[in-house]
Amino acid sequence: MSIKFIKLSFIGFVAISSVAGLFIWLGVFNVAATEKHWDATTSLLEVIRDRSISTRSRKLTVPDLTGSGRVARAAPNYDAMCAQCHLAPGVEKSELYEGLYPQPPVFYKRNQLSTRKPHETFWVIKNGLKLTGMPAWGIYNSDEQIWDIVAFISSLENMTPEQYQKLAAAGEHEHAKGGHGKGEPAAGNSDKSHRLTSEPDKGHHK
Ligand code: HEC
Repeated sequence: MSIKFIKLSFIGFVAISSVAGLFIWLGVFNVAATEKHWDATTSLLEVIRDRSISTRSRKLTVPDLTGSGRVARAAPNYDAMCAQCHLAPGVEKSELYEGLYPQPPVFYKRNQLSTRKPHETFWVIKNGLKLTGMPAWGIYNSDEQIWDIVAFISSLENMTPEQYQKLAAAGEHEHAKGGHGKGEPAAGNSDKSHRLTSEPDKGHHK
């Protein structure tokens, strides 16, 4: 390697670093959720997300997800924890759904199992997705509760608003690992305070 080559490489490195530094420092990149990524950036982020989920969920064992028990147990939890972002039959828009970027997928309009396998779906719900707004639900919910929700979202496609309302209203929203604040009991805690369907007055959500 000649001295000239080393010198040129060094100058090139300093030049690229300076441009990158200026790009960041001057705030050229727009972090607004209203500003969409370039198609190439979206594709790259999707590959990173899909490979990460696939690798990390590979060793999970999927329990039996059939039977109506899981769906019935999960419905009130889905209604309280997920519908405000992922919508539901009869809940066709929300401020969170419209304001988020990337926009949350709508499970009743597309079959979740055609996009992601059950163990991958479980992993996402348990661990959340960085920089998207998708929270990690495993902090307050047991694995069993999360499998219930996997079964539920896989059955949402083509569910009518009436069926959804009935299921969501039939149970109590609860967390196995404690409530919404420190010091709440670990089991038997339930509340209807932030449900979408059971609220008689939906305020300014139209
Ligand atoms: C604050 C909004 C928000 C809430 C609440 C929320 N999510 Fe999400 N979720 C998102 C966003 C945004 C994405 C999209 C991420 C992306 O496109 O990469 C997402 C992605 C997902 C995915 C991955 C979809 C796929 O296969 O690509 C699943 C599964 C999911 N959410 C399930 C749930 C469940 C179940 C709940 C409730 C327990 C929930 N989410 C609550 C915002 C939310």
